[in-house]
Amino acid sequence: MKKNILMILALGCGITFAGAADGNALWSEHCANCHGKDGRGETKMGQKVGVKDYSDAKVQDACDDAKAFKSVKEGLSEDGKTKMRPFGEKMSDEDIKATVAYLRTLKK
Ligand code: HEC
Repeated sequence: MKKNILMILALGCGITFAGAADGNALWSEHCANCHGKDGRGETKMGQKVGVKDYSDAKVQDACDDAKAFKSVKEGLSEDGKTKMRPFGEKMSDEDIKATVAYLRTLKK
């Protein structure tokens, strides 16, 4: 009987976690290879494409949530060159918002 209750509790938690977007996990999966786990962009890929240091408050403040969301969803290009490809097809709006929210926590 006790075992059954534990099973139900465990299942219940699993469903809750699956339902909420986990910004940290999504960041690691989709963003960290360029921007780095800490947002500094000191990765091979990040150096190659020229990412900014998002632990820097000035860099963060130069880009508000609406613009950040749009750039991630629709992609970002400069002088006709793609800097960041669009994530809108792979990720839901909610997931994109969660990664942007996570990015904000990397500001030092
Ligand atoms: C292929 C490498 C790459 C990946 C993967 C990547 N980015 Fe970027 N990102 C860039 C580059 C390059 C820029 C432009 C320079 C900068 O602002 O750092 C950029 C810019 C940004 C900006 C600033 C946009 C603006 O309008 O100023 C945000 C916010 C951002 N990325 C978030 C993310 C998030 C969230 C993810 C994961 C869903 C992600 N990036 C994945 C390369 C990447």
